[in-house]
Amino acid sequence: MTEQQLEQLKKWFYGYVAGFYGGDELVNDNIRLKEDHTRRMCADTPILAEQFGLNQRQKLLAETISLLHDVGRFEQFKKYRTYNDVGTENHSLLGLKVLAENKILDGLDSSEKEIIETAIKFHGEKDLPKGLEGETEFFAKLIRDIDKLDIYYVMIERLEDFQKNPNKAQATLGFSEKDKYSKNVVEAVLKNRTIGYEEFHSLNDMIIAMLGWIVDINFAATLKEMKKRGLFDKLAGFLPDMDDIRAVVRHINNQINERIGSD
Ligand SMILES: [Fe+2]
Repeated sequence: MTEQQLEQLKKWFYGYVAGFYGGDELVNDNIRLKEDHTRRMCADTPILAEQFGLNQRQKLLAETISLLHDVGRFEQFKKYRTYNDVGTENHSLLGLKVLAENKILDGLDSSEKEIIETAIKFHGEKDLPKGLEGETEFFAKLIRDIDKLDIYYVMIERLEDFQKNPNKAQATLGFSEKDKYSKNVVEAVLKNRTIGYEEFHSLNDMIIAMLGWIVDINFAATLKEMKKRGLFDKLAGFLPDMDDIRAVVRHINNQINERIGSD
């Protein structure tokens, strides 16, 4: 694919998104959330691409995937007024439908189209399916890492906001206890078992679990970038200073250093 093709895709995407803004502030706020997420990911993509030594075509592919990976979110919110895939529609598949209906990828060659579609299709799944090959697998892994990089950023922003307005945490998450955490969440992280939202009982549980999500980061280059941005230190900074917490932070730091060192 060419730079010009990427420019055309950007033009289409941002024009498409602009069509979702209107008189409803709730819709506007949520559309903006995903538009901003996409913009930041598009900005992060060349930074990571550089670390992987991608060639020009691969860089363009990576940015195209970042640009389009959440294209289904806008229709999803408009239709269901929620971003919860459970009970609505899988937003990745919805995105592929939007792209097909608008014939957005038809100008690309078929192998590039396949790489982009596969990466979008699986970006939000708990695990990638086995058996993906070569570049298809690489780009499917890359988008998941770039997505996570931004999830950490978003969470830290939100936690800073909660720190200033403790009542907001209660309203948003349903819990705000300062020093409360669950032993099983700590144990899970120490055993490198990832845990989901259903097991959280406090804000600290969520932060501890997020630190544990590093086991799902595919590439050391992503970890390196996250470390460089101080994301882990910032996250850990929201936790109370207690023995269990210190053990978690130590464990996470050891793991990061091990992986960064070995790559
Ligand atoms: Fe997504």
